[in-house]
Amino acid sequence: MTKAKTQYSCNECGGLSPKWVGKCPDCGAWNTLSEIALVKSASPWQGYAGSRSGALISLPDISTTVCERFSTGLPELDQVLGGGVVAGSVILIGGDPGIGKSTLLLQALAHVSSLSQALYVTGEESLQQVSLRAKRLKVGNAPLGLLAETQVETIIQVANQAKPQIMVIDSVQTIFTQALQSAPGSVSQVRESAAHLVRFAKQSGISLYLVGHVNKEGAIAGPRVLEHMVDTVLYFEGEKDSRFRMVRAIKNRFGAVNELGIFAMTDTGLRGVSNPSAIFLSRNRFPAPGTIVMVTWEGSRPLLIEIQALVDDSHGIPRRVTVGYDHNRLALLLAVLNRHASITLHQMDVFLNVVGGVKITETGADLAILMAVLSSYKNKIIDNTTVFFGEIGLGGELRPVPGGQERVLEAAKHGFKRIIVPKANAPRTKQEEITVIAVNSLNEAINAVLI
Ligand code: TYD
Ligand code: MG
Repeated sequence: MTKAKTQYSCNECGGLSPKWVGKCPDCGAWNTLSEIALVKSASPWQGYAGSRSGALISLPDISTTVCERFSTGLPELDQVLGGGVVAGSVILIGGDPGIGKSTLLLQALAHVSSLSQALYVTGEESLQQVSLRAKRLKVGNAPLGLLAETQVETIIQVANQAKPQIMVIDSVQTIFTQALQSAPGSVSQVRESAAHLVRFAKQSGISLYLVGHVNKEGAIAGPRVLEHMVDTVLYFEGEKDSRFRMVRAIKNRFGAVNELGIFAMTDTGLRGVSNPSAIFLSRNRFPAPGTIVMVTWEGSRPLLIEIQALVDDSHGIPRRVTVGYDHNRLALLLAVLNRHASITLHQMDVFLNVVGGVKITETGADLAILMAVLSSYKNKIIDNTTVFFGEIGLGGELRPVPGGQERVLEAAKHGFKRIIVPKANAPRTKQEEITVIAVNSLNEAINAVLI
């Protein structure tokens, strides 16, 4: 009997190696290789872009009508996608279990099915479960095609006959291809099945949504190459106990990245939140030391968010604890505060919370973070009609950030009276409703509000 041939595949990137090694030769991750049976790949890795001929075409001759978009019926989702779904595009959507991936896609598909063909392939739930959810979402009568199937060849065969405009695979981890013997959910199965589906979508012009599980670290489980294969990667974010959900585009070949769509989970599914700033500001805010409001920039729009800091005497090693913010960036800002404003918090614990489960990753939050910290440290209230934004450099200078004008307008729209901004972001024209205080450095900002 001949011994079955095996090789080793990396769980992170899907890279292959003939022998087991501790470090993946492709992505450098440690201890991620696992043994797989060697099967000749049924689908050579080519043709994603849907072009099959080897003919040379000059750029102006390419017709771009294929880039027409259609709506999902959820304006927030359309915005994240860059203005609707592009025909033939492939979208990977990841998020924690129970966050609302299936709900969102069922709602979108029900809308599309009223105008053209839509197909929902469920590999996780039974048809009854999907139907119950549809009834709950009040779309029980939508002419939506359902298929409970996990074998990729059958799915493609059915889709080929049904010719839907849009198709959802829920989820890609449950799908398998006959060509491989490994279990569904394994790296090679996910990669091969997804490759099959992506190629099919590109060739047939069907828009394809792939639902992906996330691993412990919050990244989409399965091979990293999955993110390279698709056009758009969306992540569902949100705190477990909050009813707000955020959908963020982290890769988009057809729109801006970091675009954020905000939804509220209700009894009848997800509803887009049209005025997100209003929900992140608590209704009856009372001024307290350490609580301030900032204007952040999410994708292509401004968003008002409340930040709370608490600075307290430390009993032991000083702690820097953050929720919704990078604690290394906080440490950096505290160092700038020490060097350039001579305010030392070495003996203090610093706690920081971004209200509403939002994660802030932009440097435009720097000024607001330090102002919240200082307000708590000095036990001085910053009045609740003042807002901030601006990046702080290592020299203690205030640097401009994108979207200055829009941020000022957003603050004025929500009734704020005063805004502290970097000088280079100050609007050229005089603002009627809001006083703009343009500052050059951290010290100028401190003098403007905390002295
Ligand atoms: P689901 O969409 O199944 O999440 P995923 O596919 O990401 O695992 O999860 C939906 C969750 O939201 C579930 O906990 C129940 C809740 N829910 C509502 O609150 N309202 C609704 O109308 C629906 C359909 C679900
Ligand atoms: Mg689901």
